[in-house]
Amino acid sequence: MITPKVLFTEDQIAQRLSELGPRIGEAYAGRELTVVGLMKGCLVFMADLIRKIPADLSVHLVRVTSQREQEGETPRTEIIYTATVPYEGRDILILDDIVDTGITLNFLLDHIRERRPRSLRVCALIDKPGERKIDVHPEWAAFTLKEPLAERFLVGYGLDYGESYRGLPYTGTIPLPGAGRPRSVE
Ligand code: IMP
Ligand code: MG
Repeated sequence: MITPKVLFTEDQIAQRLSELGPRIGEAYAGRELTVVGLMKGCLVFMADLIRKIPADLSVHLVRVTSQREQEGETPRTEIIYTATVPYEGRDILILDDIVDTGITLNFLLDHIRERRPRSLRVCALIDKPGERKIDVHPEWAAFTLKEPLAERFLVGYGLDYGESYRGLPYTGTIPLPGAGRPRSVE
């Protein structure tokens, strides 16, 4: 494991979540909120954010994987884990670690929309709008990266590279190992 270059410190993340939580709470005032986290990257973010949202909420987890072996190939995206989530008629808030191309998130949004939630919104830890291939927009993001991260990969605070780095208390970057992206993202 190499030491990442710090991008967002533990304090900066805590500060942003303290602003974001109450704003999300206001948006759901008087409602019961159903939070659905995308594993595994959301785990640290989710644990911290739900403690800052002043709302009556329940918590669920889903795991979606996208295989992107070859450039130009249609990615094979599938839900590989889900418990029974009561989507119908509920106010659903998806928590995602990073919205990059948008492929993973868009797949999950389509899946949930078919189940007729009352509302469906997204909060991301990090939004990378410059990398988008599908037009999806999180309603909230703790951080938005305006500039693409040239040849660098985000790790820490739940984000991994090859399952390492998730336990770091901050978010940092490492040089993108090899050209292109890792083959499987979650
Ligand atoms: P998308 O389908 O391209 O939007 O993929 C988003 C998923 O890829 C995120 O939820 C992450 O799990 C993963 N991902 C994308 N970029 C990074 C990164 O820089 N570091 C760690 N994971 C990433
Ligand atoms: Mg993810």
